[in-house]
Amino acid sequence: MIDQQKSMKRGLTRYGDEAFSLYLRKAFIKAMGYSDDALARPVIGIANTYSDYNACHANVPKLVEAVKRGVMLAGGLPMEFPTISLHEAFAFPTSMYFRNLMAMDTEEMIGALPMDACVLIGGCDKTVPAQLMAAASADVPAIQLVTGPMLSGTVGDQRVGACTDCRRFWGDYRGGRINDAEINEIEGKLVPTAGTCGVMGTASTMACMTEALGMMLPGGATIPAVAADRLRHAEMVGARAMALAADQIRPSQIMTPKSFENALRVLLAIGGSTNGIIHLTAMAGRLGIEVDLPAFDALGADTPVLVDLKPNGQFYMDDLHRAGGMAPILRALKPLLHLDCVTVTGRTLGEEIDAMPAAFPQMVVRSLDDPIHAGGGIAFLRGSLAGDGAIIKQSACSSDLLTHQGPALVFDSLEDLANRIDMADLDVTKDSVLILRNAGPKGAPGMPEAGYIPIPKKLATAGVKDMVRISDCRMSGTAFGTIVLHASPEAAIGGPLALVETGDQIWLDVPNRRLELLVPDDEIESRRTTWQPPATVKADRGYKKLYMDQVNQAGEGVDFDFMTKRPFAAKTPIS
Ligand code: FES
Repeated sequence: MIDQQKSMKRGLTRYGDEAFSLYLRKAFIKAMGYSDDALARPVIGIANTYSDYNACHANVPKLVEAVKRGVMLAGGLPMEFPTISLHEAFAFPTSMYFRNLMAMDTEEMIGALPMDACVLIGGCDKTVPAQLMAAASADVPAIQLVTGPMLSGTVGDQRVGACTDCRRFWGDYRGGRINDAEINEIEGKLVPTAGTCGVMGTASTMACMTEALGMMLPGGATIPAVAADRLRHAEMVGARAMALAADQIRPSQIMTPKSFENALRVLLAIGGSTNGIIHLTAMAGRLGIEVDLPAFDALGADTPVLVDLKPNGQFYMDDLHRAGGMAPILRALKPLLHLDCVTVTGRTLGEEIDAMPAAFPQMVVRSLDDPIHAGGGIAFLRGSLAGDGAIIKQSACSSDLLTHQGPALVFDSLEDLANRIDMADLDVTKDSVLILRNAGPKGAPGMPEAGYIPIPKKLATAGVKDMVRISDCRMSGTAFGTIVLHASPEAAIGGPLALVETGDQIWLDVPNRRLELLVPDDEIESRRTTWQPPATVKADRGYKKLYMDQVNQAGEGVDFDFMTKRPFAAKTPIS
């Protein structure tokens, strides 16, 4: 009997003769030029997500090389393997539709291939969540390496970085404030280097949360993609993966209710993307941990927004890195964090914070006493229009719209929105509440980042910059405005948004966490009797059928139901 617990002997292909399986495996791998000495070493798998379609991952080949160097310097055998790669602008209908597929691909490859530990290289929005969902389910020692943020650039005398500025300039173009030639020049300068979006969008949010969660080496969240330090960090990741393999520290020991709470605190303090909640809910669900959204909202009472980054503030990710990266954030939050959580270093978060470089004067990360926004970045809404809940990134709202009543203007689908939003005779004022439905997990499908409903052209050209907007879809972490998201259950399965009619009065009250449809109950029930689901939710075959049959709602992480570990054994946050 062969010990299948180590290195190349792990997970032998089944032929009914283990010795033959190992002999055959070694025969084939020797065709790649490996020696018996190399094949006897601990094996570190490296998930390679390079793709010609993914500029956020353009530096992955160099990172793989650096990780391999780190593994070999520590005496191991690095083995890279490909997985799905997802880029936000290159995934039809939307990258979220494929996140769970990437998670399954990654989990199954970690299980199918022999490896003692795994380095996960991701970066663009859905890739890191997918990899951490996979790591949670596979529960093989794993460490996350991100590609890192892009550098900021310039357009004329303005600093720019994808993608808050992409949206700002597009708004100006739609409003007639810049012309075709100018938007074409801007298009060539918005993404000046390889790497993930240079603001506190979803990719940066996930990177910062992952460092707080303990699944990344300290300092790894903010190093720019094109910096030499990013490669040195990757080399350290390779070496650390060897130690993880030896110590067999597993993701389930690192990702716990306490460490998820730490990550949620960081999400609030960085003014992070609302997508961070969905992804963290899915990751926690893989470990039987439920994210308690009202309790998360309550964390905001003593967790202000500390980081002055776009889209909430003025700076870019390269500024945050120069200001010390996660060190000043974790140091400021230290009284609120669970410091006894184990990290991939084998030490606790508290020990890592104590070991971080000394503080120095900087302008990007504020103290708890002097925050950017006092009341928590993200609020959880209840009410007759919220059903099982909805969220709003209040730190990115216009303050005069935080309480607002207005008539609904309903768009039935993304197509309906595209067809009508710019019509000259659209019956809309700045007080209207724009509603987009059938754009949730099943309705779109894939819960696209369409919640940043454009301001109707006739209002945009008149100078209107923000309106109350409500949808059952998501929003890019780089976007801003008074925008209610993730309304669930979604309209496509009969949630409250399905029953709204244009002209209904809507009441948004963020300070009191309410979102109400001001229509009598008997009228709502009468509308329900004639409601029909949209035809788009049906699928007969392939991945779409698996997706439609199994995807769950926003409050459950939009994961596949059979991938979530139920019944839940714990909740987070626990404070
Ligand atoms: Fe990849 Fe923004 S498009 S991180």
